[in-house]
Amino acid sequence: MSSRWHSVLVFGIWISSSWSFNSAQTTARTYQNKTVVLPCHVDSLGVPTTVRWWKDDRQLADSGDPNFVLDPRVKMWDNMSLEISQVQPEDSGEYVCQATRPSSWGHVTQVHAIEVMYPPSVHSVPEAGELEVNLGDEVEIACIAKGVPYPSISWRMKDEEMKLLDERSKLRFPADNRSLSGRYTCVADNGVGDPATAAIELRIRYKPEIEPKKSWIHAAPGMRVQLDCRVSAWPEALIDWYFEGEKIHFSSRIVKHTADQVHSLIIRNVRATDYGYYQCKASNNLGVTEAPIELSGIANAAFFKEANPMSRNAYNFIWEVDSYSPIIEYQFWFRKYWPSERHDWHKLFIPSGSEAIGPLHSKCFNLTGLAPATYYEALVLARNRYGWSKPSKVQRFSTEGAPPHKEHYKVVEVYSESAPAVVLGSPALQQSLSESNGASTRKILPSLIILISTLRYLTTT
Ligand SMILES: *[C@@H]1O[C@H](CO)[C@@H](O)[C@H](O)[C@H]1NC(C)=O
Ligand SMILES: *[C@@H]1O[C@H](CO)[C@@H](O)[C@H](O)[C@H]1NC(C)=O
Ligand SMILES: *[C@@H]1O[C@H](CO)[C@@H](O)[C@H](O)[C@H]1NC(C)=O
Ligand SMILES: *[C@@H]1O[C@H](CO)[C@@H](O)[C@H](O)[C@H]1NC(C)=O
Repeated sequence: MSSRWHSVLVFGIWISSSWSFNSAQTTARTYQNKTVVLPCHVDSLGVPTTVRWWKDDRQLADSGDPNFVLDPRVKMWDNMSLEISQVQPEDSGEYVCQATRPSSWGHVTQVHAIEVMYPPSVHSVPEAGELEVNLGDEVEIACIAKGVPYPSISWRMKDEEMKLLDERSKLRFPADNRSLSGRYTCVADNGVGDPATAAIELRIRYKPEIEPKKSWIHAAPGMRVQLDCRVSAWPEALIDWYFEGEKIHFSSRIVKHTADQVHSLIIRNVRATDYGYYQCKASNNLGVTEAPIELSGIANAAFFKEANPMSRNAYNFIWEVDSYSPIIEYQFWFRKYWPSERHDWHKLFIPSGSEAIGPLHSKCFNLTGLAPATYYEALVLARNRYGWSKPSKVQRFSTEGAPPHKEHYKVVEVYSESAPAVVLGSPALQQSLSESNGASTRKILPSLIILISTLRYLTTT
């Protein structure tokens, strides 16, 4: 395209000659408002030559017509170079310089290009920057970027870089976890000026979820208690409180309170009639979720403070228990747990010997008659006027002469005395037995209390 062979008759001899451009094809990369010069140098060979500049079929300049002006920003120099000042993004494109000679020579053309670099801009899809879907729905969000050179797009979610397999302007994923809710920001960067960002707030609608802080609360008459439910839901949930299945009537003594996501029921000056099962019920248009909280006068689970060997067959224990009413008695359970397979619990009823109101009650107990060189485990329960507490965590100990402690034993034992069997010894259960806020505790507890009452009956008759 840049050269063409022509046969010319000069002084009666046909000679062949090429005519071509001296200037090289160029792509001018520049910025907005700058001035660009595109060259167009042709060997004139003394032949009259006209040069015209074109862009997209529009003529910009004509050396044969110096008065031709399409755009005041465009000027053609004597050496045929084209100058464009104040370039704008829309000036990007191909520029054709066309040199024309008398008919036998025809014309030749050279193509140059201008690329006006400009900073990125970006807009989100959906344009409003917000998207709400139901849990499980497909999410589709995108960012449409402009800029020269074309920007690269990266994504951030809640201010954390998202690790994607490849660069993409569109994100598509199932909203299968509500933790995917949040702000998605795309960043378009092309190295020119500052990166541009656009954000989309994704909201996932889901049925309320409740995390009761404590599913069991110990209180004494006269106290102020607070029952908390941490509720998360979208749309925001409506919270109702129930007591023994009945909607609660609020009063100056029983009020509700909301702070952030925590909904609380506050009972001032607790009465014995307030003991029982409460429920916080959270509802939105996707469903209803409820969580039980028991308000009780029974003691918190006891915990061992100390366990020290006294002799080859005696051990000393000190435990503590929180109770707002005096402790009447304790149950001390112990059994061998290793090396042989299965042992029944031995249960001792120990009078508290104290009228102390509390809240902290401490007890020292000497367990005698143990076998030497043996591994044991023990737990303790406390009874006040409202009933038996949950069992403490299991305390393990060994009498003098026991071989070094090994971790290879497996302890999965079953309370065998009564029908509602409880597996004790698995770490998960021990944890749930010892935590006053585990939902599973509540399920285990009543059967355990029945079991203990039965045992007590058997041992006292
Ligand atoms: C170019 O000039 C225009 C008008 O004077 C101005 O608004 C714009 O910011 C300038 N652009 C750059 C990249 O300097
Ligand atoms: C064309 O002329 C201008 C001004 O006379 C000069 O600055 C420029 O270098 C020339 N272009 C070439 C390619 O010689
Ligand atoms: C939801 O996401 C959270 C946080 O990434 C994660 O801990 C949880 O296991 C996920 N839940 C499900 C059901 O995948
Ligand atoms: C346990 O034994 C120690 C040492 O014999 C004794 O000092 C302590 O009073 C005993 N404690 C109880 C509660 O019997």
